[in-house]
Amino acid sequence: MLLVIREDYDAISKLASSRISDLLKKNPYAILGLATGSTPLGLYKELIRLHREEGLDFSRVQTFNLDEYVNVPREHDQSYYYFMQENLFKHINIPPDAIHMPNGMAADIEEECELYEEQIIKAGGIDLQILGIGCNGHIAFNEPYSSLGSRTRIKTLTEKTRNDNARFFKNMDEVPKYAITMGVGTIMDAKSIILMASGEKKADAIRNTVEGPITARLPATIVQMHRNATILIDKAAASQLDQSLKIAE
Ligand code: F6R
Repeated sequence: MLLVIREDYDAISKLASSRISDLLKKNPYAILGLATGSTPLGLYKELIRLHREEGLDFSRVQTFNLDEYVNVPREHDQSYYYFMQENLFKHINIPPDAIHMPNGMAADIEEECELYEEQIIKAGGIDLQILGIGCNGHIAFNEPYSSLGSRTRIKTLTEKTRNDNARFFKNMDEVPKYAITMGVGTIMDAKSIILMASGEKKADAIRNTVEGPITARLPATIVQMHRNATILIDKAAASQLDQSLKIAE
């Protein structure tokens, strides 16, 4: 596991985008694993800029997103599908059928989860997975105590997550109760991982992820076992690390 600390959010966004752009130049058919949330927004902005200004080509890429709400239609402005369209896909030249997201409206959710795993395998596996991290150490919707070997499956959202999300929906009934998420094991199968974090509020989760024991209580800690994982963080997110570990600049 490589720890890379940069000055601020802009710097980590740029570095992550250059990793993706280098990969696409080497392998135009790369399979990217993508995340939603605030953390990758700067990275997506930079990818859009590289596409517009430097011709970065996404025409042969395939993407797989980590997660999606169940029972939230794709057109809903809170669906992760909508998020990805608005913040990346509609601004680059990726063909619509190269975009893979779990279908939270599928009639048979279990079947959908199996299908998603199969689609990833059929595509040849994820070459580079982008991850954010929750303050409680979650990755994708794998909340604390998720099995470290888990595969794509349906997860019940915690009351805290539902309450946090309530402001984005008309009423509490509309707030999703479930999500489909890649499992921790699915994420670990990616050939490389970049876990990004920015800001002091992530510092505790990052300290545990980098220095702590591996535990299902903090699913992100499993990334220590990955053969090609980079923890890409800014100085604020690194602020609680043991000083002697701060070597990679
Ligand atoms: C999103 C996802 C989540 C986020 C995490 C951090 O697809 O999988 O695990 O990465 O909740 O969210 P932000 O980046 O908003 O702090």
